[in-house]
Amino acid sequence: MAGDDMAKDSASPRSEAQDGSRGGERAGSRKGEPDGSQGGEWGGSSDGERVGSHSQDGPGVGPWRGWRAAAERALYGPNGFYRRPEGPAGHFRTSVHASPLYAQAIAALLARVDAALGRPAELAIVDVGAGRGELLTGVLSALGDDADGIGKRLRPYAVERAARPAGLDPRIDWLDDLPAPGSLTGLLIANEWLDNVPVDVAEVDADGVPRQVLVSANGTERLGDPLAGEDAAWLADWWPLDAEPGLRAEPGPPRDAAWARAVCTLDTGLAVAIDYAHARGSRPPYGTLTGFRNGREVRPVPDGTCDLTTHVALDACAAAGARAATDRRTAPPHRLRTTPTDHGPEVTDDHGPGTATDQGPGATPRIRTQRDALRALGVTGRRPPLALASTDPAGYVRALSAAGDAAELTDPAGLGGFLWLCQPVGPAALADVLA
Ligand SMILES: C[S@@+](CC[C@H](N)C(=O)[O-])C[C@H]1O[C@@H](n2cnc3c(N)ncnc32)[C@H](O)[C@@H]1O
Repeated sequence: MAGDDMAKDSASPRSEAQDGSRGGERAGSRKGEPDGSQGGEWGGSSDGERVGSHSQDGPGVGPWRGWRAAAERALYGPNGFYRRPEGPAGHFRTSVHASPLYAQAIAALLARVDAALGRPAELAIVDVGAGRGELLTGVLSALGDDADGIGKRLRPYAVERAARPAGLDPRIDWLDDLPAPGSLTGLLIANEWLDNVPVDVAEVDADGVPRQVLVSANGTERLGDPLAGEDAAWLADWWPLDAEPGLRAEPGPPRDAAWARAVCTLDTGLAVAIDYAHARGSRPPYGTLTGFRNGREVRPVPDGTCDLTTHVALDACAAAGARAATDRRTAPPHRLRTTPTDHGPEVTDDHGPGTATDQGPGATPRIRTQRDALRALGVTGRRPPLALASTDPAGYVRALSAAGDAAELTDPAGLGGFLWLCQPVGPAALADVLA
């Protein structure tokens, strides 16, 4: 299986494990099987039951759920994957784990946001989906003795479903949910968070109708009802499916709502979502759902033993975030309601959807690659001059190592190909902090 070839070590980036191509075919996908009637253990069949599945509920086949509900329970339930003590770093490597250069770049971005905001009395940095707090720890370390005068004004918040790790820097406020809407000024970062916000999966049946994919606790799939409601509307807007049996998509409303809610935390500032992503026009035909455990891509089974992740439709999140930011800054508070659901509060827009182009000043989101973003923040893979080796051998080795780290973080075929969604809330100058 392709996933076996891709696993490099016990903690490789999840993007590489996914067929080596962000937004590409899932390992084990049905590429080259045009009738959708094959597909091995993950595959669909044209009669609505899954290949290799039981047609009746039986031993080992638990209740049938949509992938969103199944993943919610498997990742964040009482014995969920993300409640485990080893944390995400025990299973895969994100940019945060790859090198301290990443946190240093985020610290540099924070300083630029601070300047664009006119050095507010309190400057927040919010890390959403903070893992074990590694990024904030690195940012605090990068700020060191407060050369930029940020230190005393800084308010670091980690938002994370897992418990606060022992020994974490006491300056970091550890929250299990986002702070109140409009309560903070500063920088919000969500590195590889949105891909773990559970979504449903839709698949086109033999009659060309997109239906919800249901999954049992052992990973067996079958098709449920035809897609309806906001998921169907979202697919029509953002990920239209042809009538070809077996095509799959991952409806994004939960992520749009999650991102909009995160953006709304800021009164003014910059919200940045960083993830493996795809855009309209280049959606992966069979979706991207995959599992991940101990550094290896595995069959996605919603039993709490593996990560469950899908690439992010970041363009849709951008539009939702921009609408929410504009609404929050222009509408009276009652126009933006939060509605509790099974999956946490969702932002509800009382006056209908806007578009990505009808934003107020400074609210236009921008999406760029991590490679471009990090280069704008001074991270390059340039090797140090050889002459340094004789004048300062230790410095040369350090610089060489940093160049290697930078090359990994900016590699277009790996972490450098991740997308950064930069969503300004407030002053137009915020849009230029990565210019
Ligand atoms: C892939 S890990 C990324 C960790 C870290 N940001 C990094 O880049 O190394 C995703 C994290 O998001 C957290 N998470 C997912 N949904 C969340 C939510 N609604 N609120 C807070 N944390 C969440 C998970 O518990 C997990 O630690």
